[in-house]
Amino acid sequence: MTLIRMNVNGSAKSLEIEPRVSLLDALRERLGVTGPKKGCDQGACGACTVLADGRRINACLALAIQYDGCQITTIEGVDHPLQEAFVRHDGFQCGYCTPGQICSAIGMLSEYEAGMPSAVTDSGGLGEAEIRERMSGNVCRCGAYNGIVGAIMDVAG
Ligand code: FES
Repeated sequence: MTLIRMNVNGSAKSLEIEPRVSLLDALRERLGVTGPKKGCDQGACGACTVLADGRRINACLALAIQYDGCQITTIEGVDHPLQEAFVRHDGFQCGYCTPGQICSAIGMLSEYEAGMPSAVTDSGGLGEAEIRERMSGNVCRCGAYNGIVGAIMDVAG
């Protein structure tokens, strides 16, 4: 067991944890933070996306002990215009992927603003094709992509 300390959504947390435990399981099962969802548990769906020191990560692929000392933000700690934009644009159906979609979109917008390159680049600013590429790690099995992209375009301005 290893003692780790994290700030989760503004609250200081410490827990004794086995080194093999993922950040996703630590959040959901040890800390009761259930916004991040377990879809595939192997880095393929994005449902578990959280922000670690502001960067988006798949919490299912991360070991909790790697994030000792970090600031973790899940959907429970998010207060962002994207949330209302997802409602306005019907950016979800069942809602299972939505916490990850919104955390990922927040991280994506920061990456874009920081100049992180993308395989697809829209001329004249962040547009639909580039958003779809930059958000391609987040799957929506209901197929609400038009609403998701519309919400992000709305906020990206
Ligand atoms: Fe982590 Fe699917 S549950 S990427």
